[in-house]
Amino acid sequence: QSTIYRAGTLGRRPVVPADFAELERRARKVSSAEAWAYVAGGAGEGRTMRRNREAFDRWAIVPRMAAGAVDRDLSAELLGTRLPSPLLLAPVGAGALMGRDSDLAIAAGAAATGTPYIFSNQGCNPMEECAAAMGDTPRWFQLYWSSDERLVDSLIRRAEAIGAGALVVTLDTTVLGWRPQDLNLGSLPFAKGLGIAQYTSDPVFREIAAERARQPRERPKVTPGAIRALIAMSRNHPGPFWANLRSPAPRASVETFLDIYSNPGLSWEHLATLRRRTSLPVVLKGILDPEDARRAFDLGVDAIVVSNHGGRQVDNAVASLDALTAIRAELGPEPTLLFDSGIRTGADVFTALALGADAVLLGRPHLYGFALAGAHGVAEVIRNVIAELDLTMALAGTRTIADITRQTLTETPR
Ligand code: FNR
Repeated sequence: QSTIYRAGTLGRRPVVPADFAELERRARKVSSAEAWAYVAGGAGEGRTMRRNREAFDRWAIVPRMAAGAVDRDLSAELLGTRLPSPLLLAPVGAGALMGRDSDLAIAAGAAATGTPYIFSNQGCNPMEECAAAMGDTPRWFQLYWSSDERLVDSLIRRAEAIGAGALVVTLDTTVLGWRPQDLNLGSLPFAKGLGIAQYTSDPVFREIAAERARQPRERPKVTPGAIRALIAMSRNHPGPFWANLRSPAPRASVETFLDIYSNPGLSWEHLATLRRRTSLPVVLKGILDPEDARRAFDLGVDAIVVSNHGGRQVDNAVASLDALTAIRAELGPEPTLLFDSGIRTGADVFTALALGADAVLLGRPHLYGFALAGAHGVAEVIRNVIAELDLTMALAGTRTIADITRQTLTETPR
């Protein structure tokens, strides 16, 4: 944090704005309308997204004086690994809307700060390449449960092979939420072939796509959209894109992806198979109800992520921070709870930790950093959040992450 201040006083301009409002404004300026609708947008009327932020305003940090919180230690132990801070980067699909090779750049930016990145199942670069960009920094893999169990196993094997620190299964997106901004623009990234690199790089997926391509079906019309999809897809296939026009594989891949990327019938019985399917720590993401949380831990999972997907799935849903408070109250101090949806600043991280999170995930802010300055932008967004967390800890008289308890907060009068 002192480095950031020193750079500032020497007149060095930061790579990205230090406050979220300006970061967001600048990221919007460099994004297409379609990219902005998808990334910044929320479900329905945007009430969940707003509520995620308002929930933070109902809590206030009570600074403590002369508490001698020098030599602060922000490190945190998570699933058996010591991390430099309790911050991870959330999985984001279709990040290439904001720039090429988004996941490689985000992976590199995360690694520059030792921060784990959770590779999305709908990422834009294969997980093997992202892992190579991270060196020794922990990486996790996020899985959407496919309706084809062979693909579930194949993705799990690949996550094990890249040394993932955990398998994160996202539960809240068995169907895509109501996203009016995207609908109004008639744009969904997957239709452009974005966010399907984990699939097209998967041998089992390619087998499934080939199987389906062999099945007789009506020939789809060649529309401008389909041609754009083929060009985008061809990035994942060797050779020039026109070679792919002659091969049925890319088109079959887009169609197969849309058919099998999720299982709308996902049940607790499916999830109960996870423990015997992998030796990786298992994390379930997208839990909001205390009973669901209990059920998850009854299955023997290692952690859950309390999340409403950044307000992108259900409009008028419970604020993720309120769900965190309720779940911690129900489950007690032991189970490992991660939190996301609404974290924008270091003070937010502090508040979430005080309300019972063991670590937090940062979503849109890191994508905005990427949009503005690639890997450097990602790293700087992370450094800014951690620097503010550090200062807040100093001023609140907390030396370690464990010192950040409910006692550091008060509820603000309504
Ligand atoms: C997401 N999120 C997400 N989650 C997930 O499990 N798999 C995914 O592929 C994606 N894709 C995705 C794309 C974009 C553009 C966004 C903004 C979000 C949700 C993400 O992991 C996280 O839960 C939220 O982004 C956290 O909320 P904030 O920090 O954005 O408010």
